[in-house]
Amino acid sequence: MEFKEKVVIITGASGGIGSETARIFAKNGANIIINYLSSPKKAEETLEQVKSLGVEAIKIKADISKPNEVQNMITNTIKEFGKIDVLVNNASKHPPPIFNFHTPDWDLWKKMVHTNILGIIICSHFAFPYLRESNGSIINIVMDHDPGGLGYVLTKAAGTPLTRGLAKKLAPVRVNAVSPGVIETWEMSEEEKNEWLKTIIIKRIGHPIDIARAILFLASDEASYITGETLHVDGGRQLLV
Ligand SMILES: NC(=O)c1ccc[n+]([C@@H]2O[C@H](COP(=O)([O-])OP(=O)(O)OC[C@H]3O[C@@H](n4cnc5c(N)ncnc54)[C@H](OP(=O)(O)O)[C@@H]3O)[C@@H](O)[C@H]2O)c1
Repeated sequence: MEFKEKVVIITGASGGIGSETARIFAKNGANIIINYLSSPKKAEETLEQVKSLGVEAIKIKADISKPNEVQNMITNTIKEFGKIDVLVNNASKHPPPIFNFHTPDWDLWKKMVHTNILGIIICSHFAFPYLRESNGSIINIVMDHDPGGLGYVLTKAAGTPLTRGLAKKLAPVRVNAVSPGVIETWEMSEEEKNEWLKTIIIKRIGHPIDIARAILFLASDEASYITGETLHVDGGRQLLV
């Protein structure tokens, strides 16, 4: 797919899926903005890998839950590249912190809401004027599978209706989502893997590249008539759990 001269912002590009997404867009010719928060070394690694593919890239530290930091990130992107074609709202912590109802950490709850829900709205808000100009698109990374939860999964599941809401509000800018299954971005024991495999029809754990390919497709011209959609990339997991 052709992304030559396109400008792509990826939030949380110091993490597993974000960093793979940065590489796949770069392989397809895009210039990349690598957003990160607390992992400068990982962001630097992604930056070097992306630049070695012959595209331009910068890394920007910004907390996506803070409007002033996101506004600065967008301003710096425009100063550097003059436009934005794609925003990938990927940042969030995985595996998630556990919220315990009986010994609640209220600040953790607020942080999850502010990052996983508000963060998508904040980044979309500041990028929107430029995406409208470029006829661009937004891809949110959500979890469209909520077996009932009181914490992280609930805030990620909000990403699906949020994606539809943004698609209506921001048209003709297209807004879609990818809902990953179990993707190996943290160290899993064999025992843990075997437990996960019981819930996956295609008997393998996912790799970040599985998600990156779906994001690339939704951002491409091949998906120009798709908006408000959530694509499950989970080996059929949502059919079982
Ligand atoms: N892995 C899975 O199985 C799975 C399944 C379903 C959905 N997902 C979703 O896929 C996305 C990526 O997951 P992953 O497994 O690649 O996670 P990850 O390796 O933990 O990476 C998370 C990224 O988000 C960044 N981040 C967190 N809070 C941030 C904030 N407030 N502002 C800016 N950046 C922030 C982190 O940056 P720093 O490290 O620099 O702080 C890191 O780059 C997430 O939205 C996650 O919910 C993952």
